[in-house]
Amino acid sequence: MIMKNTSYSVKVVNIADKLSLFSEYWNPKIVGELNNHKVQVVKLKGEFVWHHHDNEDELFLVIKGQLTIHFRDKDVQVNEGEFVIIPHPIEHKPEAKEEVHIVLIEPKGTLNTGNVKDSKLASHNQESI
Ligand code: NI
Repeated sequence: MIMKNTSYSVKVVNIADKLSLFSEYWNPKIVGELNNHKVQVVKLKGEFVWHHHDNEDELFLVIKGQLTIHFRDKDVQVNEGEFVIIPHPIEHKPEAKEEVHIVLIEPKGTLNTGNVKDSKLASHNQESI
């Protein structure tokens, strides 16, 4: 059935514009939500912490730079225009040797440091921009 005359909004989101609104690293900002997932933009530089997620898969889409994802048995390089999906039980550690900008998609409530308590843990009250 085609719905007519219903009220809805369709918002075009410019990723570069959103990334220009902040400068801090490892602090994901929510730029959209769908199907109980959050779409975030994040700037990365340096090494994150080893962690895993008990239940949540994560999608990392690289907008700028080259992201390395370390796994215990291998490293994966993700270049601009590429994405990778991290299966939820697998331990991983992102590293950005130079500044990297990404879009990160994961279920709402996902903690960026997964099972690990660390100073890089982002707030539960994430900012939407
Ligand atoms: Ni993770």
